[in-house]
Amino acid sequence: MTSPKEAAMTDTHPLSFTLNGKPHTGQAEARLLLVDYLRHAVGLTGSHVGCEHGVCGACTILVDGQPVRSCLMFAVQANGCDVKTVESLGTPEHMHPLQEAFREAHGLQCGFCTPGFLMTLLPWLEEHPNPTEDEIRHAISGNICRCTGYQHIVDAVLLAAQKMNA
Ligand code: FES
Ligand code: FES
Repeated sequence: MTSPKEAAMTDTHPLSFTLNGKPHTGQAEARLLLVDYLRHAVGLTGSHVGCEHGVCGACTILVDGQPVRSCLMFAVQANGCDVKTVESLGTPEHMHPLQEAFREAHGLQCGFCTPGFLMTLLPWLEEHPNPTEDEIRHAISGNICRCTGYQHIVDAVLLAAQKMNA
């Protein structure tokens, strides 16, 4: 006879959502976190798992255009949504201006936090095309970086705004 724990482990649900612009279908246990689904079931490892309780921002993705912490969502909650991960931004050969700015202004060191910063900033910069340094610091206050001291990230965002406006 199947134990309640075993039943929960095998209790999968169908998933259907848009992922980085393409239709996506899959299966997930009810309690599987969206970030774990994206990383382990889909293989999109750009979203990082730092704290796993909504504090560090490393797992930030866009759901229906809004930045969300994918460690605070179950995969099944993405059903019917438009999900975008950092992989939707650009490639090493054709980077998004935001990625180019982070590279040029040294907005990263180890890079662990970077996907979360990028996905937080992408919609924010679209709404704030000419941000001040103070506004940028406020916008990134929910993302933790252990390496850079933040100044280079602020510089990168100022540069990104110039590039995105050009
Ligand atoms: Fe999601 Fe830290 S891993 S906020
Ligand atoms: Fe290392 Fe931000 S670059 S945590």
